[in-house]
Amino acid sequence: MGGGGDMKWQKDAADQNFDYMFKLLIIGNSSVGKTSFLFRYADDSFTSAFVSTVGIDFKVKTVFRHDKRVKLQIWDTAGQERYRTITTAYYRGAMGFILMYDITNEESFNSVQDWVTQIKTYSWDNAQVILVGNKCDMEEERVVSQERGRQLADQLGVEFYETSAKENINVKAVFERLVDIICDKMSESLDSEPAMLAGGARGQRLTEQPQSNNNPACNC
Ligand code: GTP
Ligand code: MG
Repeated sequence: MGGGGDMKWQKDAADQNFDYMFKLLIIGNSSVGKTSFLFRYADDSFTSAFVSTVGIDFKVKTVFRHDKRVKLQIWDTAGQERYRTITTAYYRGAMGFILMYDITNEESFNSVQDWVTQIKTYSWDNAQVILVGNKCDMEEERVVSQERGRQLADQLGVEFYETSAKENINVKAVFERLVDIICDKMSESLDSEPAMLAGGARGQRLTEQPQSNNNPACNC
């Protein structure tokens, strides 16, 4: 596995065990399932008890994508309004956002636009966003159709998945897709700003698609 010394961008000199480090944020209204989603991804665990996040927390996970070790620093933000000042302070420097609503909660869907505004206000322009409708295992309580989710995503120009942290549906796919989108964006900006890159990896495009991308929406 070569290339460890190639990339200067976002490289943490203290830890040589990865090629890139991406800072990601999970945002959305309280109780949509942000913490559950992260726990499912990082620890493969789920609990039905609701412990609302206070402020902000993070987990680290290293993934392998296209022969690169990508260390993900995933920040789980509190959805409650009273923590907004704290959480938005973490938007800066985030390369990717998972913007989550709950398919059984209309209000959480109606808030998506406000969250997009928060991203535009507090994060850098190149941050990549994926819209996620969580709790797709709760079909009987669904109030937001998959079609409305997809339409909103199209309108916002972002990708869309329905997921279930409970049933482990599309959780990994969302993170992998976000990593791929960030990698694509990165090689695009490296192409236009080659000074950012020292070494041989220039122009490498990381375009391999995860299999689940053919039908990213939840079938349950
Ligand atoms: P805040 O920290 O307040 O912003 O909320 P949050 O978005 O982190 O929500 P959290 O992950 O704590 O989940 C809220 C509740 O929804 C908990 O009771 C979870 O067990 C439940 N939940 C989360 N994801 C799912 C899911 O995919 N399906 C079902 N059925 N329940 C879920
Ligand atoms: Mg939480």
